[in-house]
Amino acid sequence: MIICKTREELKTALADLDGSVALVMTMGALHDGHLSLVRAARSAADHVVVSIYVNPLQFAPGEDYETYPRDLDADVATLKSIEADPEGNGRSVDVVFAPSDDEMYPRVPLVRIDPGPVAKIFEGKTRPTHFAGVLQVVHKVFNLVKPDVAFFGQKDAQQLALIRTMVTDLDMPLEIRAVPIKRGEDGLALSSRNGYLSPEERQQALALSASLRAGAEAAAAGASQEKVVSRVRELLEAAPGVRVDYVTLVHPDTFVEFAPGDAGEGLIALAAWVGPTRLIDNWEVQIG
Ligand code: PAJ
Repeated sequence: MIICKTREELKTALADLDGSVALVMTMGALHDGHLSLVRAARSAADHVVVSIYVNPLQFAPGEDYETYPRDLDADVATLKSIEADPEGNGRSVDVVFAPSDDEMYPRVPLVRIDPGPVAKIFEGKTRPTHFAGVLQVVHKVFNLVKPDVAFFGQKDAQQLALIRTMVTDLDMPLEIRAVPIKRGEDGLALSSRNGYLSPEERQQALALSASLRAGAEAAAAGASQEKVVSRVRELLEAAPGVRVDYVTLVHPDTFVEFAPGDAGEGLIALAAWVGPTRLIDNWEVQIG
């Protein structure tokens, strides 16, 4: 595993790779959810590149940019740990790209990615500059690594939909693949921000996945899209310690909200505060 901190080092490391390259982008604080992306990447390509970078452009003032956990040595050790996977044939990550801010943004960027209308709804409502910052760094890292395929988690479903939209609309020459949400045994979707939860809040946060599961059960029993959404919302609003931001039903590929009469594959997506921590989760459903 080669650790690159500059784009020059990255260029040299990439030149030594022979064959297809899969990319996994992260902000570090790696957990099992990130590792499921790395495992998927490893089985899809000859080489795996993981980027670790807390991107300042996607945080607004007052968010957790300064306090976001940063520990490169721990992250490298986590990535090395999967070399021992029985199905991994001793292979792990070939290259880690962990640039500094100056390396990633040598100057304040003048040309910006406009993520379009979907960046203004749901997550974008409370975080209006977030997705423009995400797409800026994703586009840059795609250009630096030039992967054949890049893996993103279904956990951040709106982010995934926007990255797919960017790749399609800008004819970017790579494939985007989604990896299902990795959950703890109690159902809570793994997230670096779960570390902010007290034991009591963690217990309260289980209402997110529980209400989504109930919504999916309602959908499977033939409930209308309105009923599915209201069932999830009701359960979440009744949950102690939880404050709902939004509950919605969207088309997974575009994140456009279901219109009355729409049917087919959908995604119930929600965000809620548990104490001061804002969490997101989502669940695939079949409507109609
Ligand atoms: P980060 O939050 O570190 O997540 C990195 C990748 O891991 C994302 O694709 C995310 O969806 C995925 N992931 C996180 N938790 C997951 C879980 N429980 N199950 C499955 N996948 C999970 O998302 C970002 O970083 C940044 O916005 C980034 C894309 C790196 C751009 O800065």
